[in-house]
Amino acid sequence: MGSGKKIVLSAVQPTNAMHIGNYLGAIKNWIPYLDEYECIFFAVDLHSITVEQDPKALRENTYQSIASYIACGIDPAKATLFVQSQVPAHAELAWVLTCHASMGELSRMTQYKDKSQKHGSHIPTGLFTYPVLMAADILLYGTHLVPVGEDQKQHLELTRDLAERMNHRYPESSTGEKSPLFQVPAPMISKVGARVMSLQDPESKMSKSDPAPGACVFLNDSDKEIEKKFKRAVTDSGSEITAEEQSSGVRNLIQIQASFLNENYDAVLSRYIGKQYGYLKLDTANVAINAIRPIREKTEEILKDRSYLDGILKVGREAARARAEKVLNEVYKRVGFIRQ
Ligand code: TRP
Repeated sequence: MGSGKKIVLSAVQPTNAMHIGNYLGAIKNWIPYLDEYECIFFAVDLHSITVEQDPKALRENTYQSIASYIACGIDPAKATLFVQSQVPAHAELAWVLTCHASMGELSRMTQYKDKSQKHGSHIPTGLFTYPVLMAADILLYGTHLVPVGEDQKQHLELTRDLAERMNHRYPESSTGEKSPLFQVPAPMISKVGARVMSLQDPESKMSKSDPAPGACVFLNDSDKEIEKKFKRAVTDSGSEITAEEQSSGVRNLIQIQASFLNENYDAVLSRYIGKQYGYLKLDTANVAINAIRPIREKTEEILKDRSYLDGILKVGREAARARAEKVLNEVYKRVGFIRQ
C-alpha cells in the first residue's frame, strides 16, 4: 500500500458460491488491474446478515469466497484480500455515516425497495442501512475506482453523495488545514465484461438467488451439472442459428462462449450460422466445463488448506486495518470525538 497507484476496491457477499456471471462479468476482467492499480477485495459478511443466514454456512461460504477469488486469479501477493468483519473500522465508520444519511435518500434505493417487499412486516433495519455500510467499505480506503454492475450504481451514487456531504461539513483536517476528508470514488465500467443472463430466463441477469433450477452456473458445479444446465438452456422456438438475428437466449450462449474463449461475439457466431441450437449448447457447455474445472479444483485445494487461507486472511486484515484505522481516526477527530 502507499504505492501512489490508484485504488480499486470491490467486494462480494459470501452467501453462496460465485457463478459465471460474477466471473465473466467481473473477476476475470480484474486480473489486469492487479498490476495497474492497488487492489482491495473482500468478503462482506456484515452485509450478508442483513438477511437470515445459517452461521455454519456463512463461515464456510466466507472461506469459499476468498478461495474463489484466489482460484480465479486474484493473486494474494498482488491484492489485499480480507474478511469485512475482521476489520472493525467498517462497522464504526458505517455508524458515523448513518448519522449523516437521511431516511429519504435510503428509502429511494431500489434494491431496498425490492428486497424489503419480500420480508412482510418484519423488515430488518440492516436491509435499510445496507448501502451506508457499503459506503463505509469504499470510503475507508481512499478508493478511486469501484468496478460496479448496473445493480450497484445507485449505491455508489449514494457513496459519492455521502463523501461530498462529509467533505463539505468537515472541511478542516485535525491539524487545521483545509483538505477533503474523503476521496470521492468513481464507478468503473468495464468495456470488456460480459453481462451474463440467466440460462432459464435470458431477459434477466444471472443471479444466485434465481430459484429456477439450472438458471445459474456456479463455479463449484461439477462437469455433469454444467453440461445439464447448458443443455437445458432456454433459447426460443426456432431451431437454427441465423446471421441476421439471434434471440436473447442464443445471444447469451454465444456471449458466454466468447467471453470464456476471449473471442469476439461475431467470431463465435460465424461458427454456428445455419446450425441447430443443440451444437451451440453443447459446445458452450464444453467451453465452460474446461474453463471452470481448473477454478473448481484450485478452490477445493485451497479450501483444504485452512492454515494457508487463515494466513492470507491475517496478512489481508492487518494491511486493511492499518489503512482503515488512519481514515477512521481522522473522521472521529473531525466529528469531535476525543482520541488518545
Ligand atoms: N453490495 C454489493 C453487492 O451486493 C457488495 C458490496 C459491499 C460491495 N460493499 C461493497 C461492492 C463495496 C463494491 C464495493 O454486490
